[in-house]
Amino acid sequence: MLRMKSTLLILILLSLCLPLQQSAYAILAHRCFSNETYNPSSIFASNLQELFNFHQILVPPTGFGKGSIGHGENQVFGLGQCRGDVPRTRCLNCISEAMFWLRWSCPISRGAIMWFDLCLFKYSNVNFYGQIDDTNNYIRRNATSISNPTVIFNQVNNLIFTLSFVASANPLFLATASARTDDSRTLYGLVECTRDLTPEDSIRCLNLVRVRLIPWGIAGAQFGYGSCYARYEIYSFFGQAPAAIYNMVSNNTHVLIDNQVV
Ligand SMILES: *[C@@H]1O[C@H](CO)[C@@H](O)[C@H](O)[C@H]1NC(C)=O
Ligand SMILES: *[C@@H]1O[C@H](CO)[C@@H](O)[C@H](O)[C@H]1NC(C)=O
Ligand SMILES: *[C@@H]1O[C@H](CO)[C@@H](O)[C@H](O)[C@H]1NC(C)=O
Repeated sequence: MLRMKSTLLILILLSLCLPLQQSAYAILAHRCFSNETYNPSSIFASNLQELFNFHQILVPPTGFGKGSIGHGENQVFGLGQCRGDVPRTRCLNCISEAMFWLRWSCPISRGAIMWFDLCLFKYSNVNFYGQIDDTNNYIRRNATSISNPTVIFNQVNNLIFTLSFVASANPLFLATASARTDDSRTLYGLVECTRDLTPEDSIRCLNLVRVRLIPWGIAGAQFGYGSCYARYEIYSFFGQAPAAIYNMVSNNTHVLIDNQVV
């Protein structure tokens, strides 16, 4: 009897793990950031469901969508964004998966965010549009150690700083670039902001990200807030940059920076 129970438990655990492995999109992180919960049979819950349905339609055409459902304490605000170069079908799938995982990971939270490699989805009972979210965050490190990390450090700082201005001038709030380091490595960088921000705030957000993207002696890292993120590697991780993305290749040796990091 006891054995049967533990077999059952293992089976249940296995089935809980299964969807994670099957997810087609790399999951970066999630946060159930609200300290308030909701009842699954409440009006808030049905508004949230409606919001999910609505955003699956809203987000894919342009890769970005925000909208709210309901009134007063039952109102829920949503925002979804796919990386600017992601085609419509992949965007739709990514947003659907992000919602699925938010359901799974934050089943009763009144505010939550899910970051995937190619998209993010966030909802809250509080209106968060146009505000820099520098509370919810994640970091992903590429642990490969490299020689001469100080060179990388300075150039990452320069690259991300430059890219933040490039992205703020791009309607997609996205920019990628490669740059040669002083010791002849090629550095690749990508930055992106959510499109509810103003261009000024997108730069502000990326400045906050830049100081958190501490590349002491590692080959690559990605740091993200709820409103923006930046990533660098010493290999090309964004592949062929599509025309929609402002892509620049420069040596970035003459960029002035406010070096708050060190
Ligand atoms: C949640 O946090 C906010 C702000 O920190 C606070 O004002 C509110 O009372 C908290 N609500 C609950 C249910 O703890
Ligand atoms: C980490 O960086 C190395 C060298 O840049 C690269 O070969 C490797 O694929 C990276 N790993 C990940 C997980 O990005
Ligand atoms: C970058 O530097 C290399 C070597 O110093 C040079 O050959 C190349 O033309 C430079 N590229 C740009 C875009 O300035």
